[in-house]
Amino acid sequence: MADDGTHDRGTEPAVRSDGGTKGADDVALDPWGSSTVDDYRKLFEEFGIETFDDVLPRVPTPHYLMRRGVIFGHRDYRPVAEAMRNDEPFATLSGFMPTGDPHIGHKLVFDELIWHQKQGADAYGLIADLEAHAARGLSWDEIDEHTESYLLSLLALGFDPDDGTLYRQSTNREVQDLAFELGTKANVSELGAIYDFDGETEVSYMQSVLTQMADILYPQLEEPKPTVIPVGPDQDPHMRLARDLAGRMRYFGVTEAYASFELDDDERELVAEAYEALVDGDGDSDIRCTDAAEWLRSERPAADALESTIETLESGGKEPLRPRVRFLGRNATEEAFEALIDAVDGEKRVYEGHIDSFDLDREAAEELTRQVELDHGGYGFLPPSSIYHRFMTGLTGGKMSSSIPASHISLLDDPDEGYEKVKSATTGGRETAEKQRELGGEADECPVYELYAYLLSGDDDEFATEVYEECVGGERLCGGCKEQAAELMAEFLEDHQEKREEAKAVLAELDVELDSDRR
Ligand code: TRP
Ligand code: SF4
Repeated sequence: MADDGTHDRGTEPAVRSDGGTKGADDVALDPWGSSTVDDYRKLFEEFGIETFDDVLPRVPTPHYLMRRGVIFGHRDYRPVAEAMRNDEPFATLSGFMPTGDPHIGHKLVFDELIWHQKQGADAYGLIADLEAHAARGLSWDEIDEHTESYLLSLLALGFDPDDGTLYRQSTNREVQDLAFELGTKANVSELGAIYDFDGETEVSYMQSVLTQMADILYPQLEEPKPTVIPVGPDQDPHMRLARDLAGRMRYFGVTEAYASFELDDDERELVAEAYEALVDGDGDSDIRCTDAAEWLRSERPAADALESTIETLESGGKEPLRPRVRFLGRNATEEAFEALIDAVDGEKRVYEGHIDSFDLDREAAEELTRQVELDHGGYGFLPPSSIYHRFMTGLTGGKMSSSIPASHISLLDDPDEGYEKVKSATTGGRETAEKQRELGGEADECPVYELYAYLLSGDDDEFATEVYEECVGGERLCGGCKEQAAELMAEFLEDHQEKREEAKAVLAELDVELDSDRR
């Protein structure tokens, strides 16, 4: 999000998730800065976001934003897609800072929540009022006004409040309690490193981060379930922290080991390799640590983690190598630890603080720890998943920003005003009609085409494709194209605003405080 609360983006083509084909090497992932993403490829390479195309085939009936590559990336969406396919419980949640009027960028997230709800998710929409107050300094009066407006648009677009949950951070006691609890697992230097906080950062600002962590895990309070958080990529630092904290709250950790000592991931890989080679070599399962050290020294002399691995193996001496899964008691009470010992079937060895099992596989081990944790009062959180959508280009080119009204369309804009904004938008057209007929327009560079792809075509892929092909084929000229888009936009706004009016009665019936007592 930019300072003004809008989603900003660079000048990326909008049609397919090609990972970003051009643009400066500038990636800033800052939840409160002016985030621009000029090179989506970097998000994959540097931050480890995965491309959505990888999971797309696993989604039963993908949303058009998924099909068109507007939703371009994800973290760990597979379990969500899996739950959807198998009719198992899953959830979706996203939050909105009530700093201004909702606009067409927010509509992307509203639609994502609503779609997941229709696919069977427990859906949550929250108003991040504590964050708006702490991070943006908005007064509670301003916050109240915008809160209502966001909720009306969410309802008008089809969120089902009878089957979903709407809340404000400030009135959700469970969220605040969970935030406090999660705060026991995060420290100040860590928050500083992630968010650039320093000694001058206000304490409430930090509290609002923990509150967001609690929002993200809130759908799992009753029972763990796959949960997807649809957001812009600027929120990714929050997702990484939330996934970490979910893990740190767990009672037990599960790792794989070969002997009594611990190995890091690189070291374990090397030992695994040595073990496999030696077992295959002579069918002898009596392989000692020193045998593996010797094998590595001669067969993998250039490996990265060689020195530390050999050192560890040599300290193991004649101890035989045997693959095992290891349970580490992290936050477990003694009682829970004892219960886990009892629950591990087959051959096992119990140490101070950990248990090695020789018969369970990793997946069964994970399942077991979650069950024992739940039986003993823990949450058993699954790491939350996320999906990321592209930021829309401003209608005036450059960023979409709420401080430049002509650059974006508010969901509250008068239909005539929306019409005019589209008519005055920059395009990917050529200087003259003649050139356009000859060379075709540049739909990939055109904010008007984006409107078609992200919003105006709705679920109609054929229509979106037609606009695209007519444009790049030179059959479509910008004047007529904008006229059509402007009319569709005016229709959309008129219809949406009518539905907002109708939603007022629905909202009044809900248990959402619209008049804050705070000051
Ligand atoms: N920080 C988000 C924003 O700036 C708002 C938010 C608060 C949120 N809690 C959340 C988003 C939980 C997703 C999930 O818009
Ligand atoms: Fe954009 Fe339409 Fe012009 Fe193509 S014809 S460049 S899509 S306005």
